[in-house]
Amino acid sequence: MIAGLVLRDVHSDDLPILFEHQRDPVAIRMAGYRPRSLEAFREHWEKILRDPSVIKLAVIWNEEVAGNMVVFDVGENRAVGYWLGNTYWGKGIATSALAELLQRVLERPLFAYVAAHNVGSQRVLEKCGFVSLGGVDTPEGFDPLVGEELLMRLD
Ligand SMILES: CC(C)(COP(=O)(O)OP(=O)(O)OC[C@H]1O[C@@H](n2cnc3c(N)ncnc32)[C@H](O)[C@@H]1OP(=O)(O)O)[C@@H](O)C(=O)NCCC(=O)NCCS
Repeated sequence: MIAGLVLRDVHSDDLPILFEHQRDPVAIRMAGYRPRSLEAFREHWEKILRDPSVIKLAVIWNEEVAGNMVVFDVGENRAVGYWLGNTYWGKGIATSALAELLQRVLERPLFAYVAAHNVGSQRVLEKCGFVSLGGVDTPEGFDPLVGEELLMRLD
């Protein structure tokens, strides 16, 4: 992992900062998903924190909560997702954190659903060995803003 980077479990104390990350308008356009209100975000994450099937890791960079990475069920598939605060972008953090997650989580195949316009996220996934399977319908439970969804897979 790059210097200063640590992955640890998400705690409920992390939720206010993760909420700030997910309501950034640039990140919202990039990811292509509708943001949740504070109440809906808390409810969603409290459920995730209680759910043993979801792997949830806080991305810590220089002792700050820079974002989160999750592995969760989407229908029959196990999928990865991640989100960093915008001040942490462009430093190789997502690639390094995802590579570390893939060493800890040995389930395969793993999938990722990514907006077709989100070239940054696609690049992170490609650098970690995921390949695109092309466009898919938006999975149930996702709340898209716009556009086409790509499915990417790692064996
Ligand atoms: C997408 C995201 C995770 C990228 O994080 P990051 O730490 O900046 O990514 P990295 O620094 O590891 O970059 C990896 C590669 O992607 C490229 N990249 C990252 N963001 C990019 C962007 N916006 N446009 C084009 N390329 C981009 C980098 O140049 C790098 O490629 P290179 O090594 O060939 O130069 C981050 O921008 C983010 O959290 N966005 C909002 C939420 C989101 O989109 N989540 C993913 C949903 S599927």
